[in-house]
Amino acid sequence: MKILYFSGTGNSLYVAKLLGEEIIPIKQYHTDPQPIFEDDVIGIIFPVYWISVPVYVRQFLEKSTFHCDYLFGIMTYGDHHYGASELLFEVKTANGRTFDYINYVKMVENYLPMYEMNREIKKAQSYYTEATIVTIRTEIADRKIYRPKASRFSQKLSKKMNQKHCQAIRENEGEARNLKITNGCISCGICVQICPMHNISMNYRNVYIGMNCADCLACIQNCPKGAIHTAKEKSKARYRNPNISLQELL
Ligand SMILES: Cc1cc2nc3c(=O)[nH]c(=O)nc-3n(C[C@H](O)[C@H](O)[C@H](O)COP(=O)(O)O)c2cc1C
Repeated sequence: MKILYFSGTGNSLYVAKLLGEEIIPIKQYHTDPQPIFEDDVIGIIFPVYWISVPVYVRQFLEKSTFHCDYLFGIMTYGDHHYGASELLFEVKTANGRTFDYINYVKMVENYLPMYEMNREIKKAQSYYTEATIVTIRTEIADRKIYRPKASRFSQKLSKKMNQKHCQAIRENEGEARNLKITNGCISCGICVQICPMHNISMNYRNVYIGMNCADCLACIQNCPKGAIHTAKEKSKARYRNPNISLQELL
């Protein structure tokens, strides 16, 4: 079994680690125009963005070929997913493959412009994260065919929000437009290494954020000095999954 993942703050990587042994970050294939994967079972794990599938993940799936008997997708989320599962089910890989199994895991909500991190971390203590992962592991082992059904309303809403997410990334360059680097920056280069889009660069002293942003907030959340801010953040508190080290996300 091969598990691919995309993770800004470690939630999806944590799920990937609990589900499989061979885990691969999709950012490894950023410049590969046609990645090919082969195994009996292949899975992909990533966060819900804008109650839909992140543009970055959809583009990865559409350019990739999957030769497998069973393909599953797990989405981590913090608050609402509405019709995200239906949108993932509509995605076709480069060789026309669709998902056999789709499910969600509720974890800490990390969207800084709308949520306060300390509050979200506290709330998540009551989530059944590990129990959900155990159930998912059993269902995958049984090769269950499943996806959570969503109402027509939820599907419509997710489609609409997905269009907005695409538009934000295309026209307004995603969250990058709101990012500011403050004097606390020590030019450690973590943000440069962690960005899946290679959108952050650095000369001997200054850090520059470009306009090719996936919206993952990994640079802000993982800055060791808390020196990167977004204009709309609810507080200065930051989040990374406590089971995942910074090194694992680079
Ligand atoms: C740009 C962005 C959009 C998000 N949109 C949603 C959303 O619509 N619904 C939701 O429940 N969580 C949303 N989240 C929260 C993440 O899905 C959630 O915290 C996820 O577990 C983070 O996974 P990661 O640590 O692997 O990046 C969003 C996060 C980001 C950065």
